[in-house]
Parts: sequence; structure tokens; C-alpha cells
Amino acid sequence: MKRVAILISGGGSNMVALVNSMTGDHPARAVLVASNDPGAGGLAKAAASGITMAAVDHRPFGRDRAGFEAELLKHIEAAEPDILCLAGFMRVLTPAFVSRFEGRMLNIHPSLLPKYPGLHTHQRAIDAGDAEAGCTVHEVTAVLDDGPILGQARVPVLAGDSADDLAARVLVQEHRLYPAVLRRYSSGDRTPIFLP
Ligand code: GAR
Repeated sequence: MKRVAILISGGGSNMVALVNSMTGDHPARAVLVASNDPGAGGLAKAAASGITMAAVDHRPFGRDRAGFEAELLKHIEAAEPDILCLAGFMRVLTPAFVSRFEGRMLNIHPSLLPKYPGLHTHQRAIDAGDAEAGCTVHEVTAVLDDGPILGQARVPVLAGDSADDLAARVLVQEHRLYPAVLRRYSSGDRTPIFLP
């Protein structure tokens, strides 16, 4: 059974989708939900699931990313995860942290990578006049929103969409895609999944 730690910064809807998927014959179980924001809404949801939680506020560390990560790492190492899932985790990780988990750290990003790494993905897709948008699960490497693609799901961009409209449509697909990829990845299969 693989042990999965999930890092969040916000509402944690992807975390909930992942946690809820890891039951029955699933080859993994959630062992930790950790956040860089003690006020993250997702922490209350994790508490309801009875999963071990940790909150390490990044703010007192200022620009000291390594210091923040060292504190976060204590909680992660205590949980002994095989796989780390970033689920709306909005801190850029240092190369040292990434290399520690390279090959066993996943991220979900709300665009069809390699399009639109970084922020404001939905507005950028609308501004570009794209007919399609979507989400990507990929392995995390030292380059932001890069790394081998493990799955993608697509949605149409509709006339008159606001960034929020599109984000909501994409999020529904994130909740399908991330659990599907994690299940496959946990069983040792890195073949990408492309959902319609
Ligand atoms: C999701 O849309 C996720 O793809 C995005 O943040 C949202 C988190 O929602 N992640 C990024 O933008 C990472 N760069 P959630 O907290 O409800 O899962």
C-alpha cells in the first residue's frame, strides 16, 4: 500500500477528491494533509476525514524558502509518504526540496500544459481565444509547471466565459483526472491518461 501526502493552500477540493478515491482496492492511502496556510479551508475538510494534518505558515519565513521547507519537511518525513501530491499548493518549491521527492511528486495545474504555466491560466486561455482549456497532472521537476505529463482533461471555452466560469468547468474535470492519475501512478504505471 502506497502512502500519500497531500499539500494544499486553499479550499482543498482536489485534496478531497483524492482522499475520497483512496478506499477499497485502491493501491494507496492518504496519510497526511499539509498546508502553508493555517487558515486554508481544506484543513477543516481533512479534519473531517480524520487524516493527520499539519500547517506550517510560510509568512514568518519571509524569503527564507529553505527554512519554511525544512519545517514542512519535518511533518512530511514523519508521515513517511511514498508519493507527494500538490493539490492547489501555491508555494514554489526549491530545487533541493523537489530533488528530494523527484519521481514521486505530482501536481495538478489548471491548463493544458505546456500552455500557460504559472498563474491566471483561465484568463490567459480566454484572452488567447482558445477553443479548449483544461487541466494537467504532471510529475514535478525543478522547472515550474514542467515535468512529464501524466494526464490531461479538456473542456470547451464557451462564448462569454469569465475566468471564473472556465475555472469552475475545469475544476470538475480536475476532480476526475487527479484521482484517475493517482490510482494508476500508485500502481507503478506512468502511462498518461487523456480524458475527453
Ligand atoms: C485548482 O484549480 C488547481 O488546479 C490550482 O488551484 C486550484 C486549487 O483548488 N492549482 C494551481 O493553480 C497550481 N499552480 P482546490 O484547493 O479546491 O483543490
